[in-house]
Parts: sequence; structure tokens; C-alpha cells
Amino acid sequence: MKKISILNIKGGVAKTTSAINLAAILADEGNKVLVVDVDAQSNSTMSFKAYDIDDLSVSDVLLNKDIDIEDVIKETEYENIDILPSNISLAFAEKKILLDVTRNQQNRLKRALEQVNDKYDYCIIDCPPSLNMITINALVASNEVIVPIKIDKFALDGLEYLLESIEEIKEEFNSDLQFKGCFVTMDTATVVNKEIKKALKSILKDKLFDTTIRQNVSVTEASFEQMPVVYYKKSSNASKDYKSLVKEVF
Ligand SMILES: Nc1ncnc2c1ncn2[C@@H]1O[C@H](COP(=O)(O)OP(=O)(O)O)[C@@H](O)[C@H]1O
Ligand SMILES: [Mg+2]
Repeated sequence: MKKISILNIKGGVAKTTSAINLAAILADEGNKVLVVDVDAQSNSTMSFKAYDIDDLSVSDVLLNKDIDIEDVIKETEYENIDILPSNISLAFAEKKILLDVTRNQQNRLKRALEQVNDKYDYCIIDCPPSLNMITINALVASNEVIVPIKIDKFALDGLEYLLESIEEIKEEFNSDLQFKGCFVTMDTATVVNKEIKKALKSILKDKLFDTTIRQNVSVTEASFEQMPVVYYKKSSNASKDYKSLVKEVF
């Protein structure tokens, strides 16, 4: 099972949109895919209609080592996609992990995922918009990390800090971790966008993917239907772009 974190320390850059659509395309190609939602906002869980505050969730997996992850994973309505769901309890899980010094705090997700290593081809981890202990668990569990970037006035802010942090986690906890690269989301054909893309290219070089995901109203429509856009409207620009991205990245 190849494990890929979708990470940015900013919210609203299309982490969740990218996670669920990459998962959907990989599943469509016949791969068994596990989506892991480690964001307390639980948007990818909701996108697969798997949100339930009373169910076991990823928090239980992080806090209780005796939990069988297979009892927590849910099937989705789509073939080949299962989800390790999140719910609001994850908002309190980090503090509990930090207070529990009797066990390793960074490798809990990694340990849990080892139990299903042979069941899936890909695991896509939808990260929260911060670098907390939950995110560190995601990165320690991952082979690869991909960073979506939304172009706005602040697109470049914090990027270097994020890339340094990934390197630190790699050195400290997970020498396997590979920073695959960044890609632009919600792309438009404006002059400002082109300028910022140039700046990104000069900072990231071959770590900026050629594929960009165009801004596309079908993504918004799909989110209201609680489904990935590549299932909602295959012919939309965003669906085509996510397909190209999968080709380029995998
Ligand atoms: N390509 C796109 N075109 C238009 N809207 C998009 C696109 N990608 C994401 N969005 C919208 O942007 C918002 C933030 O996306 P989301 O995936 O939830 O970001 P994050 O997980 O980083 O917070 C959502 O409302 C989503 O529908
Ligand atoms: Mg999100």
C-alpha cells in the first residue's frame, strides 16, 4: 500500500477536493483505495457520506492501540474506495495524544495502517490545515507528500516553512518520506496567476507539477452533491485536470 499525504498548512487550498478526486480516479482505474481523513472538519468523510458522530473514527485509532482499524474503516458507495472516517472528536484527540507519554506519539497512524497494508493499493491521507501532532502522524505514516497550492496574494507565504518542516519530519521520524511536489489548484488565466506561477516555478523548480487544476464551478456543484467531481461530471475541466495530475504524479 502506497501512502500519500495531501498537505498544506493553509485551509481552502483544495486539499480535500484533491484527496477525494485522486482517490476516485485511482479507484476507477481498478486500484483498491483507502481514504484517511485526519482533519477534524471531516470534509472528506462527509464527501463520502460517512460522517457519524457516534461511530468509531480515526481519533479512536490514534488514542487506543487495542482498536482494530478494520472495525473503524467504512465502505463507501463507490467500488474500490473505503474510508477511515473522522469526526469532531478529532479536535480533542491531539491534546490527549500529547498528554499520553506512555506511548510513542508520532507513529500511531503508521502502526494502525500496517494492519491493512495488504488490503489496499493506495492510501490517500487528507490532512488538516496545520502542522500539529495529527499531521505529524500523517507524515510519519506516508511514503509521499503532495502539496496543493491555491494562487492568491499569500500563495508563497509559509511555503518555505512547510517544505522545511517536511524535511525535518523526514530526518527526525521517517527517512522514507518523499516530497513529491506541489500543484496549483483553482487556476485561472489571469495575469496575476501567471506571474505567481512563474514565481512558484523559480522556487520549486522540478517540484512544481506541470498540471494545474482549473477553477471550475462543477467542483462546487459536486461538493453540494457530496461527491467527487470526477464522479459527478467526468467531462468537467476539473475532472480532466485531476486525471492529468494522476498521470503526471503516479
Ligand atoms: N478546482 C476548483 N474549482 C472551484 N472550486 C474549487 C476547486 N477546488 C476546490 N474548490 C472549492 O474550494 C473550497 C476549498 O476546497 P477544499 O478542498 O475544502 O480545501 P481544503 O481541504 O484545503 O480546506 C471548497 O469550497 C471547494 O469546493
Ligand atoms: Mg479539507
